[in-house]
Amino acid sequence: MKRILSGIQPTGSLNIGTYLGSVKNFVKLQDEMPDYEFFIFIADLHAITVPKDKQKLRKLIKELAALYIACGLDPERVNLFIQSEVPAHAQMSYLLQCNSYIGELERMTQYKDKSRKQETGVTVGLFTYPTLMAADILLYDAEYVPVGQDQKQHLELTRDIAQRVNNKYNDIFTVPKPLIAEVGAKIQSLKDPTKKMSKSDDNVKSRINLLDPENIIKKRIRSAVTDSLGTIKYDPEKREGISNLMTIYSIIAGVSFDEIEEKYEGKGYKEFKDDLGEIVYQELKPIQERYNELINSKELDEILDKGQERAFKVSQKKLYKFMHRIGLGRKR
Ligand code: AMP
Ligand code: TRP
Repeated sequence: MKRILSGIQPTGSLNIGTYLGSVKNFVKLQDEMPDYEFFIFIADLHAITVPKDKQKLRKLIKELAALYIACGLDPERVNLFIQSEVPAHAQMSYLLQCNSYIGELERMTQYKDKSRKQETGVTVGLFTYPTLMAADILLYDAEYVPVGQDQKQHLELTRDIAQRVNNKYNDIFTVPKPLIAEVGAKIQSLKDPTKKMSKSDDNVKSRINLLDPENIIKKRIRSAVTDSLGTIKYDPEKREGISNLMTIYSIIAGVSFDEIEEKYEGKGYKEFKDDLGEIVYQELKPIQERYNELINSKELDEILDKGQERAFKVSQKKLYKFMHRIGLGRKR
């Protein structure tokens, strides 16, 4: 069966950027692509490439799992699992490191950005991060990998590594393709609309988290940076702030930019923002309700156990196949 796979790092509470750019897309895909098997995982091994507090990490892993389901991932359709609970990922990452080059890893822009920001020294794990990501993908022979724009370069590297290994070891991996959502592939920060909305931004006002209460959601929208023109017009080049808010509006309400412009013709930011606050709140309310049911439930553990079992089986098989091709261990 053909497969689709993606992961999210448990590095901070999910915000509407990740939700609209990534999670909502999975939910749509699970219904639109019935011929594919889905694997979605929490990339906790990726998270520890920079220092993490133990208690916080634990909490975020669980929170993310519950949120995925609360956002509409169907556990009957999707294998949801935690990366570190499936040992083949780390093992495969090592094997791929032996088939990648320092030069190509040094070119990764995410590595360059993140290593510059590190105050306490850059770990080897941060450097080899893309080989772990390649392992995640290649272990499952994923044909499509839904990601945001920022992960495109890592996916291209994964394709290069897969092709290289295929040439050397006789076609062992499926070469994956990125699936990048068209609208909302990028939601920008509410405080600096030239930057992406990020879980790790120091300014909490830059984002709306999926678990934020109603008053915070509405406050964040009201205080979002726009400009002094006061008209609701989509122009992502010159008017990033209002265009970003319109993108959020458009994806959630399922209306086009033209329709939004028409609706708010002659009206100001206040009215638009009040409506958008309500729209975002109404979208998040049922997610929060379902999350509260799930977070400490046996149901969630059962979903994760089932996901782990399936992921273990598929990944272990691929790992052994590759080890065998390389000539590792004994011949069986
Ligand atoms: P991360 O939060 O960096 O682990 O990203 C998880 C997934 O969500 C990746 O595919 C990202 O590209 C995507 N993503 C993260 N932040 C945003 C954002 N502000 N807008 C759109 N997609 C995002
Ligand atoms: N690196 C991705 C991110 O930061 C998360 C990730 C890890 C991932 N492994 C993956 C995404 C495999 C897709 C496929 O967003």
